[in-house]
Amino acid sequence: MINASKPKIWYGGDYNPDQWEKQVWDEDLRMFKLAGIDVATLNVFAWAKNQPDEDTYDFGWLDEMMDKLHADGIGVCLATSTAAHPAWMARKYPDVLQVDFNGNKRKFGGRHNSCPNSPTYRKYAVRMAEKLAERYKDHPALLIWHINNEYGGAGNCYCDNCEAAFREWLKERYGTLEAVNRAWNTGFWGHTFHDWEDIVLPSGRSEEWSGANGRTETNFQGISLDYMRFYSDSLLECYKLEHEAVKKYTPNIPVTTNLMGAFKKLDYHKWAKHMDVVSWDNYPRFDTPHSYTGMMHDLMRGLKDGQPFMLMEQTPSQQNWQPYNSLKRPGIMRLWSYQAVARGADTIMFFQLRRSIGACEKYHGAVIEHVGHEHTRVFRESAQLGAELGKLGDALLDSRVKAKVAIMFDWENWWAIEMSSGPTIALRYVDEAHKYYDALYRAGIAVDMVSVEADLSDYELVIAPVMYMVKPGVASKLEQYVAAGGSFITTFFSGIVNESDLVKVGGYPGELRKLLGIWAEEIDALLPSQRNRVVITDRNIGLKSEYECGMLCDLIHSEGAEVKAVYGDDFYAGMPALTVNKFGEGEAWYLATSPETAFLSDWLPKLCADRGIAPLLADVPEGVEVTLRVKDGVEYLFVLNHNEAAATIDLGKQGTELLSGRTMQGGSAELAGRDVWIVKLHN
Ligand code: GLA
Ligand code: ZN
Repeated sequence: MINASKPKIWYGGDYNPDQWEKQVWDEDLRMFKLAGIDVATLNVFAWAKNQPDEDTYDFGWLDEMMDKLHADGIGVCLATSTAAHPAWMARKYPDVLQVDFNGNKRKFGGRHNSCPNSPTYRKYAVRMAEKLAERYKDHPALLIWHINNEYGGAGNCYCDNCEAAFREWLKERYGTLEAVNRAWNTGFWGHTFHDWEDIVLPSGRSEEWSGANGRTETNFQGISLDYMRFYSDSLLECYKLEHEAVKKYTPNIPVTTNLMGAFKKLDYHKWAKHMDVVSWDNYPRFDTPHSYTGMMHDLMRGLKDGQPFMLMEQTPSQQNWQPYNSLKRPGIMRLWSYQAVARGADTIMFFQLRRSIGACEKYHGAVIEHVGHEHTRVFRESAQLGAELGKLGDALLDSRVKAKVAIMFDWENWWAIEMSSGPTIALRYVDEAHKYYDALYRAGIAVDMVSVEADLSDYELVIAPVMYMVKPGVASKLEQYVAAGGSFITTFFSGIVNESDLVKVGGYPGELRKLLGIWAEEIDALLPSQRNRVVITDRNIGLKSEYECGMLCDLIHSEGAEVKAVYGDDFYAGMPALTVNKFGEGEAWYLATSPETAFLSDWLPKLCADRGIAPLLADVPEGVEVTLRVKDGVEYLFVLNHNEAAATIDLGKQGTELLSGRTMQGGSAELAGRDVWIVKLHN
């Protein structure tokens, strides 16, 4: 547990005193105290200030600030500042500058602007991390390391160093050029490579182009997929080098870097293995579904097997980088903060503590607004939350969310699905996963978002939406899980390819065919305006007689699976649309198309109920979210009312509501609009 050194939900955020005159520092500290702030993330973008030239390091301001914060009881989340290189470095060593997708060499500017394979960048980034660790290793304010910032936050690099590194990466992965040729199916379009030097990066100058719907299109999925793996690994390597550098001096200080939820470019399952604690930045739009934010929290919690995570950043009020930056309405910041805690966060932190006056983030909200004093709505709300978190103390720390349902999520599968040329550009992996998540969320059923490597033995139901890519060992693992009594659901366009995007011949869904007891002969893509119908043929499964479906329709044949529904229209009317195969003690479902959401919200809760998976609270009004965290046998029930209006909730059990201290008598009670209960249940 990271909070041991300061045993409460840490409260604070990014603080950039290096961008301010010293006169305001004491005023900041005065207000931090009023807001109950006890952690400050320092030094995120101060590389150029700390290292004015190649040989000079000057940490004067940081020394002073660390001491000041410590004197006020505030701990420090210390960033290594390597997410934006100094201008002098770019001028002197142009290899730190990236080459973009179209081959243009960048000049100095922006941030997340370094080539991850630049020897200069790596050398100086590691040196900076080392200097900081050496200097502050015994500083009592140091709580945690924050390496870099939002890795991958800008474009990719396509420079010669990256190209050479890609070839090395391939040698490591494949050993021989023959194996590369096989994996990429290079017989196609005359691509056979005879020399490692033949291989170039896939970019706008070679295999790729920007297509519709925000997609990157490619001629060669195998090459592009390996490039994405390589690029995620390149940035991860930078992280690991800095991680190692700080660990040398501070082996006991935890290390993190701030992730971004379903951020496509980085395979976070791989990254999390090298992080002591997961932290992430939560920036929903005002109209982002609450279930989507919930899914992101659960995805981040799942990266390290359900261990608590840090909410590293959120805005107290508004953002600046969306087209329309609405204010968080009164009560929303508090509510969404507790949503994070309800799903496993052990810190609540903001970007940022004081609003900047220049450049592109001056219209980004902060605890201390431009007016500079504490008499603002945002400050009052921040201070209220700070006081509440103080009161909660260590009660919730390190408590766990327990789910009986898992949704499998896989980055490489995501990449492969969305670089597929055909059958449709409409298929968005995260949206498809969210449809399943949302149906369970609405039913109040807890879900873990897990990797394909996860141990499934604790789950009653595992859902793998669009498991297009089946990685080695996954099919047999799923077979074992189902044979032992588990229930499994997968969908259309699954079991098609291996890790290299090569089709598994012999009938889709390839390696999953035996488990599912079906085979798919063809896949129809529907226009956005077209629909088919899922007509339920087994009236015992308790669904309405029919539902709409669209996007993709697999034309499947049963080879032993029971048919529960068929298509209603077109030349494949009457062919199976939903099947279930008994396999050992369990069963495996195949949903051959993308259904309307009503189908999932009717079907999934029913499946869960049949397996004894109940919602945490029965009959909860729409817009009320319920979760449970458990520690040492003590249960903490979170009830969050996302509605503006009050909601009547039947708690069922008695407990103590921790924010108000009042005893809840089990019966019906009214929860105000946008309000929260955290009920410690009496057992
Ligand atoms: C990101 C960054 C911060 C800041 C915020 C603004 O999360 O990490 O530095 O730019 O966005 O929303
Ligand atoms: Zn590069």
